[in-house]
Amino acid sequence: MRIDAAVREATKELAAAGVPSPGADAEALLAHVLGHDLGEVRRARVLGRDLDEVGEAAYRDVVARRATRVPLQHLTGTAHFAGLELAVGPGVFVPRPETEVLVELALADLDGLTEPAVLDLCTGSGAIALALARRRPDARVGAVELSPEAQVYAATNLARTGLAVDLRQGRAQDAFPELLGVVDVVVSNPPYIPPGMVPVDLEVREHDPELALYGGGEDGLDVPREVAARAAQLLRPGGVLLMEHADAQGSTLPAALAATGDWSQVEDHVDLAGLPRVTRAVRG
Ligand SMILES: C[S@@+](CC[C@H](N)C(=O)[O-])C[C@H]1O[C@@H](n2cnc3c(N)ncnc32)[C@H](O)[C@@H]1O
Repeated sequence: MRIDAAVREATKELAAAGVPSPGADAEALLAHVLGHDLGEVRRARVLGRDLDEVGEAAYRDVVARRATRVPLQHLTGTAHFAGLELAVGPGVFVPRPETEVLVELALADLDGLTEPAVLDLCTGSGAIALALARRRPDARVGAVELSPEAQVYAATNLARTGLAVDLRQGRAQDAFPELLGVVDVVVSNPPYIPPGMVPVDLEVREHDPELALYGGGEDGLDVPREVAARAAQLLRPGGVLLMEHADAQGSTLPAALAATGDWSQVEDHVDLAGLPRVTRAVRG
């Protein structure tokens, strides 16, 4: 079968299943099956190359699984985040492009600091911690994750990238007791979805771990509030907390932080789609 025909057929199947970007996923899955990059797949389509029977069977199988809304990243085993290729799969939250805004804000706050101390509370695959360690090799980066399954992915990503991150398993609420009052920047993308806001996308609802999604309490902000309280203990005076939140929490999370009296200059930042996404607060 021609590669171009196989990709077209797969695109139709994925579109019928409600996959949001069927054409891109069809090409990415073929690249994965063939062990090629996307450029090679596109060239093969244009040049009228064929897919052999073994490749065809493997491609059909993986496309059928994607049509049941298994996340693309679980099928390829990788997610791209802030210039890194990270190992992901069942048991770990797939890092999202909107979280790159938090990375950029943290880098701006780290600018001008020498060998800064940075902590990522609720690190999942290690995405934010590793992105910061890559861009700021002089930083002393630590990260903590509660889920043992997610922790395994973070450890794999640490080993694969060769980046220096002090990775620990445990609760963010008690993390890094030896660093109280000395940290320059705390970053966190904690679970924050309220109970009434069950995600629409099947990829999220059925495949991201519940521990990664739901923040607890009526507003979903129980865990974020607790993580912020730990950040307040860890940061030095003038240190900065950057915390991701749902777009509907662009005023509630800043209000919750301001109400504690721990923070000054509490402000919110939008993501690339213009939606409220990250609260920044200075340890007052
Ligand atoms: C929304 S995910 C974000 C993961 C990663 N930071 C990212 O941006 O891709 C939240 C993560 O927090 C972890 N988590 C939930 N409660 C936690 C806690 N109390 N302490 C540490 N990690 C926690 C979850 O297991 C999950 O990996």
